[in-house]
Amino acid sequence: MKPGEIHEIHEIPLTAYGRASSVPSPVNRMMTDFALDFRDGIDINLGVGYVNERTIPRKLIEEAQRAVLANPKQYRVALNYGGSKGSPNLIESIRRYHLNNRIKGLDEGILDEKEIIIGPNGATSLLDGVARLVEPGIVITTDPTYYIYCNLLLRTGFQILAVPEDDRGIRTDLLRELIEALDEGRRREIRFVYIVTVNNPTSTILTNERRRELVRIVTELSVDLNKRIPIIFDKAYEDLIHDPDCTKPESGFRNDDMGLVYEVGTLSKVLAPALRIGYMIGPPGVFMRAMVQRTNDVGFSAPLITQEIASYILDHHIKGQIEKVRAGYRERAVAVRAFLDETLGSFVSGCTGGRAGFYYYLTFDEGIRTDTGSRLYHFLTRATGDPDLDGPPGARKPRVTYLPGEFCVHRGGGMVEVGRRQMRLSYGFEELSRIEEAIWYLREGVDYACRG
Ligand SMILES: Cc1ncc(COP(=O)(O)O)c(C=O)c1O
Repeated sequence: MKPGEIHEIHEIPLTAYGRASSVPSPVNRMMTDFALDFRDGIDINLGVGYVNERTIPRKLIEEAQRAVLANPKQYRVALNYGGSKGSPNLIESIRRYHLNNRIKGLDEGILDEKEIIIGPNGATSLLDGVARLVEPGIVITTDPTYYIYCNLLLRTGFQILAVPEDDRGIRTDLLRELIEALDEGRRREIRFVYIVTVNNPTSTILTNERRRELVRIVTELSVDLNKRIPIIFDKAYEDLIHDPDCTKPESGFRNDDMGLVYEVGTLSKVLAPALRIGYMIGPPGVFMRAMVQRTNDVGFSAPLITQEIASYILDHHIKGQIEKVRAGYRERAVAVRAFLDETLGSFVSGCTGGRAGFYYYLTFDEGIRTDTGSRLYHFLTRATGDPDLDGPPGARKPRVTYLPGEFCVHRGGGMVEVGRRQMRLSYGFEELSRIEEAIWYLREGVDYACRG
């Protein structure tokens, strides 16, 4: 090539996953745009899944770090590389935590037959591991979906079969019908079932009956296909069931005769997301071995120091910590529900949540859209074009962010239409007074939407 001659140079060849990942997902774009010019103290973020800062036990973390570093006999080489499976101290603490928590149907006998592994970077990294190790095919999940993981599954080549939920969780009757309706070839493409036990975005709590029925379904399916169809219960919010009237959740392991159940848990919501501690409990075997190798490949399990800190807190303080966290979210759930009912009640035809986790999921009446092209969205992002509503340039009025339902419902499923008038609101992050203010803006936005 002569100097100055222009050649069209080809891009770095990417895998199909690489190509799919080179385009940020619409929800990532929306969140990034918002974060870019977010004004602290002015704008109100009801869109993120951040935990409440006050629930993070800074003092305990300090105490734990000191205790870990002062006791190298128990907490060996805490500032060195960790192993691929996770800190033996933390694994033992998680095991004890599950036994002490008296999860229905879980006893020492059952846990002794399971393996516990710690992920490289929270539960997210373990879910990513599943997506990388299982051959692409169909994943069954709940609609609305946990949009972050389902987006990853789509990029890694999976197809999603999303089954609507009701107030008891995924509709297992519909799931059976949908499986029946698949022809033999399609049924053979089913790879695993992924269920968030306190669903994100809806916060609907999966009942114990449904949980048992799901285990029955994967057992029957595995026998029918002569192939293991695992079910992954993502228990991210299960420790945050704060309504005292809720029945205690039961372990999926209870009726799992074939060893198909895997549970994924995280300490992000009850301790601190920054510790990045996620774990998986499941039967030892080929799949668990592959998961551990995957952890090794991406840089070992979570930083050993944070694993040991988590182990110390689980051993010494977890009961009080969880009680505090639950009480905090309970209070917020009740207060926010009252604001919502009072301010938006006459425009909302459905509202789930408030018993666990920190999200409400609203369905507005017909005609009130929430998607990023809607009047309500424009109003709340102060992008109507009317300076009276948006505020003058350079001093825009407070903006409110939420997660539009269009990003949560499965885009090939039956909820696309209703998703356009749904939204997830987080009451985790912002202070109550700011949430109340945001709900008032929401009401103004709804009035504006109704005028259009
Ligand atoms: C359903 C669900 N699973 C997993 C996670 C991720 O947990 P971690 O912080 O351990 O990666 C979240 C976080 O919001 C979640 O909502």
